[in-house]
Amino acid sequence: MPSMGDEEFSRWVDLLERRTGVVVPPGRKTFLVTGVRTRMRETGYDSFERYFNEVLNGARGAIEWSTLVDRLTVHETRFFRHQPSLQMIASEWLPDFLKEHPDNLAMHAWSVGCSTGEEAYSLAMVLDSSLRQLGASRAYFGVTATDISNAALAIGRGGLYPRERLVEIPDDMQKTYCELVGTDSFAINEALKKRVGFALFNIMDVARAPLKKLDLIYCQNVLIYFARDRRKQLLTALADLLKPGGMLVLGAGEVIGFTHPSLTRIGNRQTLAFRRSG
Ligand SMILES: C[S@@+](CC[C@H](N)C(=O)[O-])C[C@H]1O[C@@H](n2cnc3c(N)ncnc32)[C@H](O)[C@@H]1O
Repeated sequence: MPSMGDEEFSRWVDLLERRTGVVVPPGRKTFLVTGVRTRMRETGYDSFERYFNEVLNGARGAIEWSTLVDRLTVHETRFFRHQPSLQMIASEWLPDFLKEHPDNLAMHAWSVGCSTGEEAYSLAMVLDSSLRQLGASRAYFGVTATDISNAALAIGRGGLYPRERLVEIPDDMQKTYCELVGTDSFAINEALKKRVGFALFNIMDVARAPLKKLDLIYCQNVLIYFARDRRKQLLTALADLLKPGGMLVLGAGEVIGFTHPSLTRIGNRQTLAFRRSG
């Protein structure tokens, strides 16, 4: 396999940024080159240039791109990855929200950049158990989980995970929402799975998002890969999709100096969350 020169690297970086928003800094060149090379090997290409042209080649290129993009993005995730955010949803936001919307029996959350589904299922577990504890078990909720990677979404839809990952889920939630499968796996139970719908969606298309009037938008460890200006643009668009009283939850420290006329910061120093006022 050939090595990738700086000019070639810039072409790939530009293409990825333009199409996904993800910025690959020079320090992560190896990651990008490994992803491209692996896919070249799988498809029988031995020239970066020819493979680049193939990716740009109409409908066929679009199919190849959808596989390649999975190799060029980071999918690291965990169940209950950021406890303080989930805790805040359960103990602060949800009780207030129910008081203010006594008739709002349907609640819609969005996990943006959900990777293999752990974040979306964690949210569903927290919403379901909190609604029961708050005596609002009649309230219906759904979580839409979107990502740019088809391969990641397929794992999420399957809802089947290695058994050793069960420890990431609090004991009481394991008992209620997970079922052991064979000796090596566990599954998210059907009742909870039904609450989570997975869909392919590029956050760069947020202005055309089919989702509107959301109660909760949860977007962590996605925008950190984006350029600062792009982050703010996308956050403004996400904020515009919230209902009054809805909340936008980001990863702590992921955005600095973001403001929006209808958003008020809530939560504590361990969280980065905003509530929409009007
Ligand atoms: C590091 S994972 C974070 C997963 C989860 N949100 C969490 O915090 O554990 C980042 C995810 O963002 C997705 N992603 C990257 N660019 C995207 C884009 N333009 N649109 C949608 N998803 C994107 C990647 O495919 C990846 O699954």
